Amino acid sequence: MGLTIAVGAADAGHSVVGFDVNESLVNQLNLGYSHIEGITDAAIMGFIAKGSYKASSEASVIEGSDVIVIAVPTPLDEKRNPDLSYVHAAAELINQNVQTPALIINESTSYPGTLRNEIASRVSVVEHLFASSPERVDPGNTQWGTKNTPRLIGGLTPAAVAKAREFYSTFCDSIIEVSSPEVAEAAKIFENTFRQVNIALVNEFAQISDALGISSREVIEAAATKPYGFMTFNPGPGVGGHCIPVDPSYLAHVANEVGVPATFIKRANEVNLAMPAYVVKRVVVGAGGSIAGKSVVVVGVSYKANVADTRETPAVAVIDLLREQGAIVVWHDDLVGNWRGETSAPLTAHDIAVVVTKHDGVSDAAIKASGYVFDCTGTIAGAEGI
Ligand SMILES: NC(=O)c1ccc[n+]([C@@H]2O[C@H](COP(=O)([O-])OP(=O)(O)OC[C@H]3O[C@@H](n4cnc5c(N)ncnc54)[C@H](O)[C@@H]3O)[C@@H](O)[C@H]2O)c1
Repeated sequence: MGLTIAVGAADAGHSVVGFDVNESLVNQLNLGYSHIEGITDAAIMGFIAKGSYKASSEASVIEGSDVIVIAVPTPLDEKRNPDLSYVHAAAELINQNVQTPALIINESTSYPGTLRNEIASRVSVVEHLFASSPERVDPGNTQWGTKNTPRLIGGLTPAAVAKAREFYSTFCDSIIEVSSPEVAEAAKIFENTFRQVNIALVNEFAQISDALGISSREVIEAAATKPYGFMTFNPGPGVGGHCIPVDPSYLAHVANEVGVPATFIKRANEVNLAMPAYVVKRVVVGAGGSIAGKSVVVVGVSYKANVADTRETPAVAVIDLLREQGAIVVWHDDLVGNWRGETSAPLTAHDIAVVVTKHDGVSDAAIKASGYVFDCTGTIAGAEGI
């Protein structure tokens, strides 16, 4: 996410340094290699050549910046509680290295109160301005990007909001000021919780439909003809990525702290996490009752189409559960290439093909060469699936 903002700001004429603790990533960026979808190597090379962008792992480079944007990981720990250690480390780094007042913006996704209590309270050597502007970009989405996705801003002071507006106005079309950083932070996690809960609902509905002998996809299409009051979500093998499986648990955590049980989030997590087991159960039934000794190709292991990101991908559980059933499993995903110590296999005929994610360009005919196809994407005509 940091790179999308860096490129947006560089394109608007700002002079941008992308500071990252990962030295090999920094080296790669300075050679003009992009590691994310939607930003080309040529774009990075162009900004480097113009002198408007460079990457660095030297903390001293952030001193003297007018604006410092924090875009660090906000994962869950082993107990699925928020892990704010990266946010704290970033705050500490700013505290130690920045001696001149700056606007400090947090774009990392976290629960309400993070800017105020976890960042501003730790950056006290110099009096800075603080704002929250949660990043809403959807990797791989060619319609909505940094420029045209409306940007929320909440600041600790009116001066912080004004400066944040001035900054983002240079490369974002629409700025929406909210009354506090907490509102901005909460809006972001509520958006993703809305998706998580609706995906769980449609995943449960897919199971109900199948048991009733009707197609959930056809029902969803029919329901979507209503011009108001319905929004389409499609079933799948679970949820993946850094956001949907993670952010709602940040909301659940803060809800617990204020004494409100976040029951929908908990239940939605359970339903979504159980989807790989449901998929494998259906594959076993569809393939005749046993998959022991059968060769299976899992097609697409990233968490969604046309991205190489495998964070929290349900493909892990699907593959592991297929192997637990005795199947001999390979996977095909040329975007991912190498993953979990294994390499993408060519898409050839197997006893069974299980399609978890389908990138553009992956051939339906090659998938259908396998004896039995189970499709989690709803895109392969005539295939069984969810
Ligand atoms: N990926 C998405 O789709 C998406 C969308 C919207 C918001 N977000 C949010 O943006 C934030 C970042 O997500 P991401 O997907 O870019 O994560 P990422 O892991 O791809 O990138 C984070 C980068 O931060 C670096 N880093 C870690 N600690 C640091 C430190 N102390 N100082 C400097 N750099 C440090 C890491 O080396 C890494 O390169 C998260 O809060 C995430 O929830 C992500």
